[in-house]
Amino acid sequence: KKIILSGIQPTGVFTLGNYLGAVKSWKDLQEEYLCYYFIADLHSLTIHIDPAKRRAQTREAFALLLACGIDPEKSLVFVQSHNKCHAEMGWIMDCCSQFGELSRMTQFKDKSAKHPDNINAGLFTYPALMAGDILLYQADYVPVGADQTQHLEFTRDVATRFNHTYGEVFKLPEGYFPKAGARVMSLQDPTSKMSKSDTNPKATISILDDEKTILKKFKSAVTDSEAEVCYREGKDGINNLMTIYAAITHKTMEDITREFAGKGYGDFKTAVGEAVAEELRPIRERFAALMEDRAYLDEEMKKGAERAAKIASKTLTKVKKRVGLLLEK
Ligand code: TYM
Repeated sequence: KKIILSGIQPTGVFTLGNYLGAVKSWKDLQEEYLCYYFIADLHSLTIHIDPAKRRAQTREAFALLLACGIDPEKSLVFVQSHNKCHAEMGWIMDCCSQFGELSRMTQFKDKSAKHPDNINAGLFTYPALMAGDILLYQADYVPVGADQTQHLEFTRDVATRFNHTYGEVFKLPEGYFPKAGARVMSLQDPTSKMSKSDTNPKATISILDDEKTILKKFKSAVTDSEAEVCYREGKDGINNLMTIYAAITHKTMEDITREFAGKGYGDFKTAVGEAVAEELRPIRERFAALMEDRAYLDEEMKKGAERAAKIASKTLTKVKKRVGLLLEK
């Protein structure tokens, strides 16, 4: 079976972007592949938040994955820092990464512009830790949103270089992107991506929002002054709403245009809001139930960490040998 691997940071409740861009496919892929999914808490250290809040958000993120349909009986689900191989591998990957290539990462440039008071070294070497995550498990496919494309390219570059220098160890992973939803945009500024860190709550749908909130946010979504529901350059707001609707209903853009021919944006926004609310309702309910059962969550985290360490340590040992670290007897 081919191997799927992906991660998500525990920096707050997942957005509709995280869901449609990544987690929704994670669920579907479980049926066909060997899947490894984790909460990227080490990556989240690049942003300063209250430690107690980080701990709570990590457990919540784990519960959210299960609530989204990731089944620990089918997939390996774990917390990144619970498997020490990630941190070790991350350092080795740091030493295989070049300053120049890391400097070209657009996410680093964006994030350092946004947080000029905390441009830490981890933010800079973030992609090397991510490359380590992927290569440790010899993943074939990495299901992510479009914003991670450059990090995947970087991972392939590092893997290629390593294989060339030390002999073939790593498989070269490929990105796996959803047909619709790889780039969900802000509801208030449809030229920038929907992000957990957006300060305007109307810009972002959280996957735990209730129906009323979802309908209200879609109703106030920024569109244009025309009245035609069609996917066309320059109609960023409508394009985004159509993308969201398509990702959930599996309708094509043509279907959607036909469905709303002669109707106004109001009707369309309501339909999108209803579809999203319907999709998210069971997730919200499962999440509430899971958060009541802390013992179950802790037990699943522990099982996941043990299994993950078993798999990852095989690759890590191979890597250590190849680079010439003296293995302990
Ligand atoms: P993170 O936590 O920022 O986002 C998790 C996933 O959600 C996708 N995503 C989006 N997709 C569509 N539209 C959006 N507006 C949107 N916003 C976020 C992201 O593309 C991502 O797939 N670096 C990763 C975490 C990570 C990882 C890994 C992923 C760490 N190690 C190894 C894959 C493999 C990240 O920050 O994701």
